[in-house]
Amino acid sequence: MVGYWRNLTPVVGILCLLLVWPGQNGQGSQTPSEDRPATSGFQLPQKPKSALTPAEQKGQTLYAYYCALCHGKTGKGDGFNSYNLTNPPRNFTDSAKMAPLSDKQIEKTILQGGAAQGLSPQMPAWGGVLTQRQATDLTAFIRTFAKQDGPKK
Ligand code: HEC
Repeated sequence: MVGYWRNLTPVVGILCLLLVWPGQNGQGSQTPSEDRPATSGFQLPQKPKSALTPAEQKGQTLYAYYCALCHGKTGKGDGFNSYNLTNPPRNFTDSAKMAPLSDKQIEKTILQGGAAQGLSPQMPAWGGVLTQRQATDLTAFIRTFAKQDGPKK
């Protein structure tokens, strides 16, 4: 008889699991959702959505790491290392200078360096460090500097 009950143990276990399993109709889970809003009146502050696209966000991370020291945190070409350079790094907020450049051109400058584009050789070539995809993300991010420019007076 003891052996008989032992054989039933897994079955009893599964039955217990099924009893406590939260109902699929939402009775078991209390998480608020769109069709079932929180009723307590207590709401966590909503995180502001980033204004940047996912590609721009990736570019932003890379930019902070590799580019900001020369081009500056705000893209104005005034990073702490810019003062050691013969030619100042491009000011990315200058839309008059940035608008005529195609994405391809910018990506090429990033991967092949300033010298390959007839610019200052002090703009390093990043082709050995960054992938094409990363250059594309960086280009997307660099573009946001000029977009943030206010209307010209
Ligand atoms: C050692 C300093 C330095 C670093 C680091 C650096 N740059 Fe530059 N960059 C320059 C300089 C200097 C120029 C300007 C060349 C000129 O105008 O002759 C420049 C120019 C550029 C241009 C050309 C814009 C145009 O007018 O065509 C782009 C794009 C650019 N940099 C992107 C980047 C990116 C992206 C990174 C990071 C991956 C980066 N740079 C890192 C110094 C730097």
